[in-house]
Amino acid sequence: MKAAAPSTRLQYHKRPRIAMAARPNKLANKHIVVFGGTSGIGFAVAEAILACSPTTRLTISSSSGTKIEATIKRLLQTFPSNAIAGHVCDLATPDLEDSISSLFSAIGKVDHIIVTAGDPISRASVHDSTLDSIRAAGQVRFIAPILIAKHGSKYLAPGPESSIVFTGAMVGQRPMEGWAVVAGYASGIEGVTRNLAVDLKPLRVNCVAPGPVDTELVAGMSDEQRRGFYAIAAKTPVGRPGRPEDVAEAYLWLIKDSNVTGFVACSDAGAKLSG
Ligand SMILES: NC(=O)c1ccc[n+]([C@@H]2O[C@H](COP(=O)([O-])OP(=O)(O)OC[C@H]3O[C@@H](n4cnc5c(N)ncnc54)[C@H](OP(=O)(O)O)[C@@H]3O)[C@@H](O)[C@H]2O)c1
Repeated sequence: MKAAAPSTRLQYHKRPRIAMAARPNKLANKHIVVFGGTSGIGFAVAEAILACSPTTRLTISSSSGTKIEATIKRLLQTFPSNAIAGHVCDLATPDLEDSISSLFSAIGKVDHIIVTAGDPISRASVHDSTLDSIRAAGQVRFIAPILIAKHGSKYLAPGPESSIVFTGAMVGQRPMEGWAVVAGYASGIEGVTRNLAVDLKPLRVNCVAPGPVDTELVAGMSDEQRRGFYAIAAKTPVGRPGRPEDVAEAYLWLIKDSNVTGFVACSDAGAKLSG
């Protein structure tokens, strides 16, 4: 008689279960880099990461050395035991690929790469747009993340425990008057996420698509854009703009759950459900 094939399911169930209290801290001794970690969502992500373990190493990056220095000081006040470094990388310049490549060769091996960088949005509407403004609107939010994945993936520890998380926007899924140009890039980064999850496997690639979130970015909007922002937030089921510290939880989930890849997590106050 032929022997029965071993059941993988049975084998899985034979694995010893690890008691919750004995589970290792997934971010202990990990090195995480946050592009855009000096304010808004990126700063909240940096804080949330450091709160997970005193042994997590963090590198924050933005276009401003002064802001990076001030941010590191601010973070060290709350998290004095963590190793926190900074590296300037201006993603809006023509030589961004060289800057990204230099950043990774300077910081070395990493376990997770998080991209929340976003420059002020001056012209989002198709009526105001020019060839140059459309190209410029995509550089930091769309082109840079692809180049970060290209160079950064060489420095990620191999395997599905490592990941890249991009940032999109709710407007990529739900139209908002006057935001056509930004919406194109926001939808685009979701497609890039799904495709890179396949191209870079078994490294994981995910994305967070926030709805309106009250950050420094909103302070820099035109009056008309800001009015629109608060009106949209008021119409969501949650009824107010998101808090950066809440949105940060979506990034934490995506880096810690090594079973998730090619996924877009919406932290958007339920905005897609509102009329
Ligand atoms: N807030 C919202 O309602 C909302 C909604 C949907 C999507 N998002 C997206 O979420 C991301 C983060 O937004 P936020 O609200 O947290 O914005 P924020 O508070 O303005 O933070 C943006 C971050 O990006 C960095 N940055 C800006 N220009 C840069 C450049 N040229 N090179 C490198 N880094 C640069 C900034 O630092 P430096 O100024 O020091 O360079 C800062 O750390 C953006 O992509 C945004 O489009 C935001």
